[in-house]
Amino acid sequence: MNKLTDRLQMIADEIETGETMADIGTDHGFLPLYLWECGISPHVIMCDISEPSLAKAKAAAGAYQFGHELSFRAGDGLTVLASGEVDAVVIAGMGGYLIRDILAEDPAKTMSFAKFILQPRNHAGALRHWLASNGFRIARNQLVREGKFICEIITVFPPKGSDTGDMSLSEPLPAETDPAWDLPPDLFKTQPELAAEYAGVKLGIEEKILEGMQRSDSVAPSLLSVVKERIAYFQKCTRDASTDIPPDVLATGDF
Ligand SMILES: C[S@@+](CC[C@H](N)C(=O)[O-])C[C@H]1O[C@@H](n2cnc3c(N)ncnc32)[C@H](O)[C@@H]1O
Repeated sequence: MNKLTDRLQMIADEIETGETMADIGTDHGFLPLYLWECGISPHVIMCDISEPSLAKAKAAAGAYQFGHELSFRAGDGLTVLASGEVDAVVIAGMGGYLIRDILAEDPAKTMSFAKFILQPRNHAGALRHWLASNGFRIARNQLVREGKFICEIITVFPPKGSDTGDMSLSEPLPAETDPAWDLPPDLFKTQPELAAEYAGVKLGIEEKILEGMQRSDSVAPSLLSVVKERIAYFQKCTRDASTDIPPDVLATGDF
């Protein structure tokens, strides 16, 4: 059995023994194979939009690919799954907007799965905002280092009690551009050092955006103020973290 990377291991740890799972965008198939080989998941479905990627997963499965407990499906997002076919769905290593589009494609089907473990490569804030706006409960936010990157893992539970496909929510939420979506407060309680380092990364990105805006003479003042607010938030996160004071700017509530 291959050892998983820390990122994939953190995702694997979100699957409970006995849960069946599907891995959307499985590529090499390492995660589902590990879960099956360890006896954690009795049935795993490896899915990918790319046939060559799926071929990698089949090669990794070797002779096991012919058993009934491993399935391989080529296709887009959740279209390859039947409603409620597995307990948990993993979507990892894709952009946050793509993950959002996959979840939004067929709301009734999306809500038929008990749990999602999402690992957006970028735009995690926009994804969290979409999830919360559509009634998903964000159970856990986690960070993990992979090479020179810090990766985000989001465990979510879809809204219960509706099979109509209507995922609308009446409660007003902070705007998508609110930086707390990008760096949720709970991370400073659970992983303070990595969260502080990540705040520094986010601060650098926003400062570059601001520099670009300041070089241009056609930037709307409202956009400029959004970026300045985001910079102030990430600055405060890094400052408060370095003084070991729980970032009070983060006391606005859990996302
Ligand atoms: C970077 S790999 C991630 C592999 C693995 N999930 C991981 O996290 O290590 C992204 C994979 O997603 C697949 N993919 C991209 N868009 C997809 C979609 N709409 N539906 C299913 N798979 C998709 C790609 O073919 C590729 O194999």
